[in-house]
Amino acid sequence: MNSTVAVRRMGGGCGAEVSGVDLARMSDAEFEAVRGAFRDHGVIFLRDQRLTPEQHIALAQRFGPIDINKFFPADGEYPEIAEVRKEAAQTTNIGGGWHTDHSYDQEPAIGSILVARELPESGGDTLFADMYAAFEGLSPGLQRTLDGLRAVHSNHHVFGAAGVYKQQGDAGELFRNEQLTSEAVHPVVITHPLSGRRALYVNPAFTLRFEDWSAEESAALLTFLYRHATRPEYTCRFRWSEGAVAIWDNRATWHYALNDYHGQRRLLHRITVAGCALH
Ligand code: SIN
Repeated sequence: MNSTVAVRRMGGGCGAEVSGVDLARMSDAEFEAVRGAFRDHGVIFLRDQRLTPEQHIALAQRFGPIDINKFFPADGEYPEIAEVRKEAAQTTNIGGGWHTDHSYDQEPAIGSILVARELPESGGDTLFADMYAAFEGLSPGLQRTLDGLRAVHSNHHVFGAAGVYKQQGDAGELFRNEQLTSEAVHPVVITHPLSGRRALYVNPAFTLRFEDWSAEESAALLTFLYRHATRPEYTCRFRWSEGAVAIWDNRATWHYALNDYHGQRRLLHRITVAGCALH
């Protein structure tokens, strides 16, 4: 019954284009094929879906309970849907640096389902990086060293009162308040709950330092890992089109929203699926 679902890998790292399925009307067997592609490739892309907000919500609920975003503005009618929006007059965007969402939560979200609503004429692509490949590409010695470490993650410096978005002015209005910021400690190398594979789990936006190390001591190794994890062969790049959908796994990938379309509006709708503790 899943024979019409086609999965085409995008490169050597994460990412696959999935076709032959209507996300709004798929059978259980088709959903299992889609979820299998999500598990195997870390991020999947489906074109020409044109989901309504209700269909977007129903799709997310097939993956798990929805995690309502505390920081992004919600789409007026649907609190489950967060707006990833940059107006023509804005200079800063949401997610314009390598990161994985929600690593500051005790139970980081599984991932997000992003739906294109309004796109610039050109630009506004999203990049993804493969954290399985990043871990597997390290020497056995460094893999063993990292295996014993945990890292502290926080969103205070991003969404807090003195955080980067507040300072940026035009994106600052999109973010809420200090009391909602949080901190969490996770293993630096996780065993992915779906795939059972080992993945690097630190990221440039939210990881502060290794547990029991100072920020200064952590910086050299983290800087090396961030450079290593974004080697071009570990990444893929998605060119958005009207009606396209991206479904990514926060535990297996990082992402980066390019900010190269100044003067044009870009609006995507994001629903995030709640996750579990990482080991
Ligand atoms: C994000 O969730 O970080 C935004 C991704 C995008 O706008 O492409």
